[in-house]
Amino acid sequence: MQRFTNRVALVTGAARGIGAACAERLHAEGATVWVTDIRDDDGAALAARLGARARYATLDVRDEAAWTRVLAEVHARDGALDVLVANAGITGFEDGPVPHDPEHVSLDAWRAVLATNLDGVMLACRAAIGAMKTRGGSIVIMASRSGLVGIPGAAAYAAGKAAIRNHAKTVALYCAERGYAIRCNAVFPAAILTPMWEPMLGPPGPARDAAMAAIVHDVPLRRMGTVAEVAAAVAYLASDEAAYTTGAELVLDGGLLAGASAPPPPPTEP
Ligand SMILES: NC(=O)c1ccc[n+]([C@@H]2O[C@H](COP(=O)([O-])OP(=O)(O)OC[C@H]3O[C@@H](n4cnc5c(N)ncnc54)[C@H](O)[C@@H]3O)[C@@H](O)[C@H]2O)c1
Repeated sequence: MQRFTNRVALVTGAARGIGAACAERLHAEGATVWVTDIRDDDGAALAARLGARARYATLDVRDEAAWTRVLAEVHARDGALDVLVANAGITGFEDGPVPHDPEHVSLDAWRAVLATNLDGVMLACRAAIGAMKTRGGSIVIMASRSGLVGIPGAAAYAAGKAAIRNHAKTVALYCAERGYAIRCNAVFPAAILTPMWEPMLGPPGPARDAAMAAIVHDVPLRRMGTVAEVAAAVAYLASDEAAYTTGAELVLDGGLLAGASAPPPPPTEP
């Protein structure tokens, strides 16, 4: 499929993990792709590997001025922005275990997660609306199943993902109301194996194996998801095939949220 020929896409947090897979997928389907991140070496390497139609730009999603600078660069070089994937996000555990439960989380730790996961998405949407409103476009927001349920040990992460769930709907309705041909949708992955998990899983060994088994224990499909599976969903929502879909939610969780963790027992045989 070549759903993005002559389209320009920008992906945040695209140096690795899900963002990198989204950039690769959009590029493979013909898009000119702006790989953006704060991991400059990895981001530039990905853009170089993709080759023609791929560019790298440093973009800290928390930085208002950086959004202005990068969007101006996109406009100057490629003339338009058609797709924005607001993917960059952090857990708060990047530098090791820090309390993130609602009783012990520090205000600084809470704000640090929300600065990236909430403020960063607001800035992304604001920039994209400005860039897309005359000729239309599609915004895809990377939420999480953690935005649909409570997460006792990751309060800021869960609150931020819940907030951007609603912001996606607000952006969708605002654009429709204004007559901008901009769609905005959100995806909700559960456990997808990426470098984000490394600080939580630890080095290879029995403890890591046990942690991985615990993660998939309640997943009906009994496995973690892949970055390619998330990228496929993002590409669909970003494409014209989803032309009637805005303000929607697409859950990628192996069936996790389809049922209850305390289901009633099956009826006994008569
Ligand atoms: N991996 C999962 O299980 C999972 C599940 C649900 C949702 N998500 C979401 O998917 C997104 C990507 O996660 P991932 O697993 O690929 O994580 P990852 O840690 O592998 O990649 C995240 C990328 O975002 C970048 N980043 C971090 N802060 C940034 C900032 N301020 N500005 C720009 N870039 C920044 C990092 O440098 C990194 O390259 C996140 O929003 C995450 O919350 C992940």
